[in-house]
Amino acid sequence: MHELILTTHSVEETRDFGIFIGKHAEDDLFIALSGTLGAGKTHLVQGIARGLDIDEVVTSPTFNIMNIFEGRLPLKHFDFYRLDREEDLYNIGWDEYSVGGVTVVEWADMFPGLIPKEAIRITIEAESETVRKLTIQWEERAPQKLVKEIEQYVAGH
Ligand SMILES: Nc1ncnc2c1ncn2[C@@H]1O[C@H](COP(=O)(O)OP(=O)(O)O)[C@@H](O)[C@H]1O
Ligand SMILES: [Mg+2]
Repeated sequence: MHELILTTHSVEETRDFGIFIGKHAEDDLFIALSGTLGAGKTHLVQGIARGLDIDEVVTSPTFNIMNIFEGRLPLKHFDFYRLDREEDLYNIGWDEYSVGGVTVVEWADMFPGLIPKEAIRITIEAESETVRKLTIQWEERAPQKLVKEIEQYVAGH
């Protein structure tokens, strides 16, 4: 498991990192987000959406578990918070929706068995009211080009 730490000091900095990911995303990207309520997961996803040229307002799909947005690549935005059982996900078409385009899952650690080895995992922790620590982790099967770009981004911030 490879690991990088990025500290952001404002909502904008978190969004900017998301925009960077969205801009450099290639087809079949899977991002697994963890962190408590109010950590900043949705703000990061909003940045990813912007980076994918999605103009729609992205909010947490808490009540419907999944939202799809059309952009340079489709963005499939999942939130596992209110998901009780893995099976419920298969009923809404997880097999079909979790591949292709860009999949981002909030509360990914609730169902670790659903997170593929290709995923880039980002855990967000609040260090103060405005400071967030982003721990970025991935394994060998993660998209290497994007991972290299993220390494450069983190080195420069
Ligand atoms: N550096 C930061 N990055 C992201 N959000 C921040 C930051 N500092 C403060 N915040 C605040 O934290 C909250 C994050 O909310 P949200 O993204 O909805 O969290 P989550 O989806 O993890 O529950 C917002 O109220 C936002 O204004
Ligand atoms: Mg959220």
